[in-house]
Order: sequence, then C-alpha cells, then structure tokens
Amino acid sequence: MIRMRDICVSFRSERQEKIFGVSRTPVLFNVSLSIPKGSCLGILGESGSGKSTLGRVICGLLKPDSGEYLLEGKNVYASRDGKKNLQNMLSVVFQDYTTSANPRFRIRDILAEGIRVKERKNGKKTDRSAEYCRLLELVGLDETFLDRFPHELSGGQLQRVCIARAVACEPEFILFDEAISSLDAHTQVQVMDLLKELKEKLGLTYVFITHDLTSVTYLCDEVMFLYKGRITEHIPVSRIAQTTDVYARKLLDSIIEFDEEYDDEMDVKESEESA
Ligand SMILES: Nc1ncnc2c1ncn2[C@@H]1O[C@H](COP(=O)(O)OP(=O)(O)OP(=O)(O)O)[C@@H](O)[C@H]1O
Ligand SMILES: [Mg+2]
Repeated sequence: MIRMRDICVSFRSERQEKIFGVSRTPVLFNVSLSIPKGSCLGILGESGSGKSTLGRVICGLLKPDSGEYLLEGKNVYASRDGKKNLQNMLSVVFQDYTTSANPRFRIRDILAEGIRVKERKNGKKTDRSAEYCRLLELVGLDETFLDRFPHELSGGQLQRVCIARAVACEPEFILFDEAISSLDAHTQVQVMDLLKELKEKLGLTYVFITHDLTSVTYLCDEVMFLYKGRITEHIPVSRIAQTTDVYARKLLDSIIEFDEEYDDEMDVKESEESA
C-alpha cells in the first residue's frame, strides 16, 4: 500500500557556516520502507532520530528533498492528484490530544470535523446524530459526551474522541505519532486494545510512531528502528528478540533488565509479606 524509496530530508541550518548559499542539516538519510495493506508498522527511535519528520513526510506535510513516495502506486508529491489521493486515504492522531482538540469545541463539533471530510469525499450527507452515536460507541464512549468540552474529559477519554474523529473520515490508514505516550500505563493498554479492535473491524493499516518498545510488541506486525535519521533495522515483531542491531539490542536489553529488576523486587516483597 505504502512504498517509500530513498527518502532524504534536510532542514535549513540555524548556524550559517556557508558564506554563499544556505547550509542544511540532513535529518533523514535514504529511508526506504513498504507497508502492506492491513498491517501495522511501528517506527521506533530515540528523541531526535527523525520519527516525526518521517511521519510528516508520510502524511503529506513535508516534501522530501529527494526520493519517491508511492501510495497504491500513485506518487504522492509528484502532483496535486497524488496529495489529494493521500488526503482521502489518511488520518492522523497526535500525542497532544489537548491541542489537537479545539478547547472551544464541544465533542460533537470535534467529531463533525471528521464527518465533514467524509461527506466531502463521498459527496453525500450523513445522518449526523446517528453518526455521532456510532463513532462514540466505536471508541467505547456514549452520547452523554456529545455536549461536553475537552477539559471535561480525562486524557484517555479525549484521546478516544480524537481516534473517533480520525476514524470518522473513513480512512484507509492512520498515522499515530506518540498517540498514547502521554497516557498512564493502564489507559495505554486500553487504548491499544481499542486500536487493535478498530484495525480488525475496519480493515485499517497503521503506522505507529513511538519510543516505547513495549507498545510496539503489543500492537505492531513489523518494527523499524530509526537511529540518527537512518533505518538500522526493519523486522517482524515476532523476530525482535533475535535482532543483532546495536541500538535495537540496547533497547531490548534495557527492558529485559528492567523486567528482571521488577521481578526481583516483587520476589523480595512477597517473601517479606509471607515472613
Ligand atoms: N522544522 C524543522 N526545522 C529544523 N529542524 C527540524 C525541524 N523539524 C525537526 N527538526 C530537527 O530534526 C531532527 C529530528 O526531529 P524529529 O521531530 O523528527 O524527531 P523525533 O524522532 O520525532 O523526536 P521525539 O521522539 O523527541 O519526538 C531534530 O534534530 C530536530 O531538531
Ligand atoms: Mg516526534
């Protein structure tokens, strides 16, 4: 469905070292990937590795310096049609649900933003009140939320509304950029379960950007490691334990160490309790 070949991105440097022309800092180096329909690709990397920059290229917000981005065979950045095709097929959910939901909008207005996109796409009106209920039900909420404002919802509930808005425009694929990172661990699991369920029900394709390996193993089919703008590993999640990539190993080992420490702590606690 999605195919990228040799994508390079650079930004204008703040420091002007060059006397003539503008110096640029490369951020992505020859990134190539493909995402089959119905799958979920996790993009992992530390802060500043270029994950969001790649996300912006994927969702049509940033034209790469070079490289090719094909969506179902159509070149996204080569023509206006390519961009339009992308906009019809894609939805995005960002980390910061508090700013991606207008604080002056009621939940019904937030959902209406997504519904309007669908109506424009399909060229016909929908029964709004039935659609609001269907969308809220889809994300585990009910119509009592419709008249509330974002600040009257918990973080998890508001992120569910943002997910409902993303689904409202009937996309084929959704890009999540750190979409669950600001939620507490328990809510993260609940939202990931919701995403899994929606993916199955609606036949969606996901790109899931995160710095958290655990969520990748929970949700994704494949994982790609970005390190300083380069892909260092791209493997199925089922084979992640066998990775030989240095950065991926570092991340994995830190989690295993943490798990062992946690188990040790629990053992001590249990023996103290039983004594
Ligand atoms: N518009 C921009 N102009 C200049 N530099 C930028 C711009 N956007 C990003 N960068 C730089 O590109 C690099 C990659 O940034 P990016 O936001 O893609 O990282 P990230 O992997 O998403 O990090 P995080 O996990 O912190 O969100 C950083 O060094 C950043 O400073
Ligand atoms: Mg980012």
